[in-house]
Amino acid sequence: MAYSDFQEFLSRLDAAGELKRIKEPVDPYLEITEIADRVMKMPGGGPALLFENPKNSSFPVAINIYGSRKRMSMALGVNDFEEIATELAAMLKPEVPSGIVSATREFLPKLSTLLKMPPRHDSGPGRCQEVVQLGDEVNLDEIPVLHCWPDDGGRYITLPLVFTNDPLTGKRNVGMYRIQVYDQNTTGMHWQMHKTGAEHARISGAQKRKIEVAVVLGGDPALTYAATAPLPPGIDEMLFAGFLRKKPVHLVKAKTVDIEVPADAEFVIEGFVDPTESRLEGPFGDHTGYYSLADMYPVLHVTAVTRRKQPVYPCTIVGQPPMEDGWLGKATERIFLPLLKLTLPEVVDMHLPVEGVFHNIALISIKKRYPGHAFKVMHALWGLGQAMFTKMIFVFDDDVNVQNVQECLWRLGNNIDPERDMCLVRGPIDVLDHASRSLGFGSKVGFDCTRKLPAEGFGREWPDVIKMSDDVKTRVDAMWSRLGIN
Ligand SMILES: Cc1cc2nc3c(=O)[nH]c(=O)nc-3n(C[C@H](O)[C@H](O)[C@H](O)COP(=O)(O)O)c2cc1C
Repeated sequence: MAYSDFQEFLSRLDAAGELKRIKEPVDPYLEITEIADRVMKMPGGGPALLFENPKNSSFPVAINIYGSRKRMSMALGVNDFEEIATELAAMLKPEVPSGIVSATREFLPKLSTLLKMPPRHDSGPGRCQEVVQLGDEVNLDEIPVLHCWPDDGGRYITLPLVFTNDPLTGKRNVGMYRIQVYDQNTTGMHWQMHKTGAEHARISGAQKRKIEVAVVLGGDPALTYAATAPLPPGIDEMLFAGFLRKKPVHLVKAKTVDIEVPADAEFVIEGFVDPTESRLEGPFGDHTGYYSLADMYPVLHVTAVTRRKQPVYPCTIVGQPPMEDGWLGKATERIFLPLLKLTLPEVVDMHLPVEGVFHNIALISIKKRYPGHAFKVMHALWGLGQAMFTKMIFVFDDDVNVQNVQECLWRLGNNIDPERDMCLVRGPIDVLDHASRSLGFGSKVGFDCTRKLPAEGFGREWPDVIKMSDDVKTRVDAMWSRLGIN
């Protein structure tokens, strides 16, 4: 089910008792973070918050809107986001390929046939252009952008959908890259080196041209999720959002850049990045729970801000998990599992615990068939899109419930001979990893926690897990109520 815009989603949350309206004037400088952090740490993720009177701005601030299983599911228009995985799995089932090479070849066309909701191109102006501020009228200070944590380098837009077009093919990309606000019309552009926005900028740099950018805030929440999703290159996030919401996304031309933007967004910040220019960005209290260090990043020069007459500013904070973004990650874990199985049919389940901050820890169960199978799965993951960032992979047999971290710790402690079962590799590392030897490059480790085969150098007998026999269980079930044990 689709939402016409972000504010309709807020109304639905309100009607479902999922939104807490806060009338008290609260400061976007640190205070909103402290309140939101306490709420996000509540069991289940607490309610979504709408600060109706943020200090120094006339626009309300919405935060923690994705911050529970229920709201993340509502954002995608389903009762539970697992339904999307089930739908995808059913669509993909008849044609599961057998090997990684054929899977890769078949992956894109197959996915394309799934995505039959291409965006619509409206003549405009869109509702996101009810107010248009050009040139000197631009003033980003009007937006209640949070200064999230005490040692942050400044204020950051934290839920931006960054639109760019590939300078060679014209193909659109939408990624979520934080935006540091430097002054009224200049910001940072934190597209990390591995991300598609950075690739677009590299190409335009090689052509000695500036790259146009539109930073979008709001719209149907499925659009915001799509911007975070690890889609294969070439799959349009707006097409994917159309698939999720079962309705095309309506786009209009931006005012000062040659980019189409969602017609019903709350705010659009238009501008350009000069690939020859960079400026210190950060530090920023990040997903990892640590400050990511300041570094040189491109600069966005704002040429226009367009907005609704009465917009709501959507944002989040990141920090020590669990946080709101953990639910965006959980949705990705579930929705992308069927797509992962397309390449790796032996994978049964996957769990990226929220404490692992997306890529630090992956728990994977597989149907093991041959010697070295767990290692094959690790290497495939390290070669697959953003899964390449996974720092620690633990591979288990299919009878292990990888959603149960306690069970995983028990199995892994028992089932490994570290020297034999550990695999160390070097490669690209998430830019946010502060422990790696250099920015974006370091080592990763995999542990084969499966039952070992003789051909894997295991010459002994592998013991069974202790289990009570069924007939005894039945007898005890029958007498249980008589025993008086609660
Ligand atoms: C709340 C949030 C903030 C993020 N901030 C950044 C960021 O500042 N820079 C970045 O490169 N990726 C960031 N990401 C991750 C990207 O959005 C994600 O990797 C996305 O798939 C990138 O899209 P792309 O492949 O089109 O570049 C963030 C994700 C979330 C959920």
